[in-house]
Amino acid sequence: MVEYSIVMTLETIAECLLSGTASQQRIREVLDDYSRRCTAITGVVASASFDAWACDAHLHSGVAIAPQAAAHCISDYRRTAVFIRAVHEAIAVGRRRFHPGPLRVLYAGCGPFATLLLPLLGAYRPGELEIVLLDAHRESLESVESLIGAFGFEAHGIRCIEADASLYQHSSAPQLIIVETMQKALEQEPQVALSMNLARQLCDGGIFLPQSIEVELGLAHMADESAAYEHSHVLDPVQLIAQGRRVPLGRLMELTALSAKSLSARERPVGADGETLLELGRIDIPTVPDIETYDVLLFTRIQVFGEHCLNDYESEITLPARCLDLPPLRGGESILASYQLGGYPRITLQASSGVSSGD
Ligand SMILES: C[S@@+](CC[C@H](N)C(=O)[O-])C[C@H]1O[C@@H](n2cnc3c(N)ncnc32)[C@H](O)[C@@H]1O
Repeated sequence: MVEYSIVMTLETIAECLLSGTASQQRIREVLDDYSRRCTAITGVVASASFDAWACDAHLHSGVAIAPQAAAHCISDYRRTAVFIRAVHEAIAVGRRRFHPGPLRVLYAGCGPFATLLLPLLGAYRPGELEIVLLDAHRESLESVESLIGAFGFEAHGIRCIEADASLYQHSSAPQLIIVETMQKALEQEPQVALSMNLARQLCDGGIFLPQSIEVELGLAHMADESAAYEHSHVLDPVQLIAQGRRVPLGRLMELTALSAKSLSARERPVGADGETLLELGRIDIPTVPDIETYDVLLFTRIQVFGEHCLNDYESEITLPARCLDLPPLRGGESILASYQLGGYPRITLQASSGVSSGD
């Protein structure tokens, strides 16, 4: 009886998230409710800072954040709602594309609540999806296993695997891969390394979520933009650019399943501890009046699936990131951009005074 009422609640949660008409407040309420229910079942308490340094796993591909911190990701409400809608639509497209037979789904970095998939499962019959949940933390998988039991999803035959997803080899080609192991500007967590390993295992015609993650370098006044976004929850980049309040400098990365597959060929080793570097290219700095008054920012934009996107300021993982390691910029200079893969993945920028055009 208790299990039945929890499944009903999952359906309510899914309905609300997928309806497209729910207010932000209502979305918060249902996600908080899901989080509380998961905590009551598993004992994992969502917390941004719970003993984080002690419980994070420092893997060769980046930081696998502690289960409590991974659970807390649910409170990045817009992120969570957009990803869940995207997963729902991707499953529908995948099931049509690969009909008949179960859709093979791999969810890497599921965390302790498998937040991006579990709330949707009530809508599928056993046998319609063949699901593998994967995480580097045993505690997260134990948590997910108890949720599967408590929600009455045992008949779905979900497999939970403890593995480093940057090395993991799946036994058959997944038709849908879901990966959200990232922070803004693709720093610290191993989204790039996981995408490089998993995208090449995707079935032909398969779907990889997010479909695209773009990081762009630009100049802007972050405090002003942030205040404007807080106030109205909209920001029109086209208008900001037209008014000279933003200056796009260039796209540094576009991470898709296709680009991820070709990145290994561009890796070059640096240092002795297994770190490698991907050269992203050179950005020329234009002459901009009062350039020293701007922040130099990395903008992250995510197309999770189709129209389900996260743009500047809309989530923690698409907040602009300040580039603090650059000297003040001057027009006519160039910046060399690279992506460092390893224990602390991140974009690195280096000012280069050489004249760059035409060579
Ligand atoms: C940002 S949390 C996201 C949790 C959940 N998917 C969500 O969206 O709410 C990232 C998760 O990925 C896992 N993770 C990070 N690196 C990993 C790796 N190399 N292999 C497997 N899991 C990893 C972490 O342990 C953590 O649970």
